[in-house]
Amino acid sequence: MSFENIILEINDGIATLFFNRPKALNALNNALFDELDQALDQVEENTSIRVLILTGAGDKAFVAGADIVELSRMSPLQGKYFSRKGQKIFAKLEALPIPTIAAVNGYALGGGSEAALACDFIYASEKAVFGLPEISLGLIPGFGGTQRLARLVGKNRAKELIFTGQNIKADQALEYGMVNRVCSHESLMEEVLKTAGMMASRGKVALRSAKEVIHHGANADLETGCRIENDAFGLTMASEDAEEGTSAFLEKRKPAFKGELK
Ligand code: CAA
Repeated sequence: MSFENIILEINDGIATLFFNRPKALNALNNALFDELDQALDQVEENTSIRVLILTGAGDKAFVAGADIVELSRMSPLQGKYFSRKGQKIFAKLEALPIPTIAAVNGYALGGGSEAALACDFIYASEKAVFGLPEISLGLIPGFGGTQRLARLVGKNRAKELIFTGQNIKADQALEYGMVNRVCSHESLMEEVLKTAGMMASRGKVALRSAKEVIHHGANADLETGCRIENDAFGLTMASEDAEEGTSAFLEKRKPAFKGELK
């Protein structure tokens, strides 16, 4: 399928997905969501992809939220379905078997912050702006933001941001623990690709297992989380990558992971 509202590029096992409606600051409408849904399926099915990066086309925005033009024409029930659609697609993004990085290159407001929060971690340009300003539109976040933000930065900080609708800059998002790293605007993609490349060079089975264990354990109690980890540890021990990684250490050489899912 060819896409109009997103761009999907794949190079050396790293996929980069651009939200691509720069004239509307990459706002999320129904058409974009349908394409994103399909692109995520493609990424999951293509086992040569080891890391997914999400970013915004143009120089101004990651994503400026749900498309307010489309939103303003929806009935309450259509709005409910739209919110559910966004929630399901961001849940699919969050549950992808490979690591995901949000490269936030500008405004990440409303649905934009919610998309970034569904990634495994966020690198931000010093020009990035985060926020859940829906309250200023008489709405609340509807793509999982009330839940993911509170889990990441704590309930009280999330309440302050959501109740006031105020935006925060990259350095404050870093202080809140929402963002892992703030980069100069020019070096953002270079830094993201460096980290993505490092992850992509590791054993594929281990990388996927680590993602799955953290994802499934995050909302479980510690004992259940450790059981999930224990099963996955056994699975990684059975992988060719584990044999190669441990042999390489003992033979004092660099591991040459084949990246087979065996
Ligand atoms: N939906 C639709 N169009 C949008 C948009 C959005 N979320 N955000 C920006 N645009 C459009 C603008 O209407 C404008 O279009 P025109 O050129 O045709 O007028 C174009 O993008 C450029 O935007 P601005 O002229 O406003 O640019 P700016 O630099 O002055 O301001 C901004 C940038 C602060 C991000 C501002 O555009 C803004 O506040 N946008 C809305 C942010 C927002 O409220 N997001 C939450 C959406 S609701 C949501 O996400 C709900 C949910 O969780 C389910």
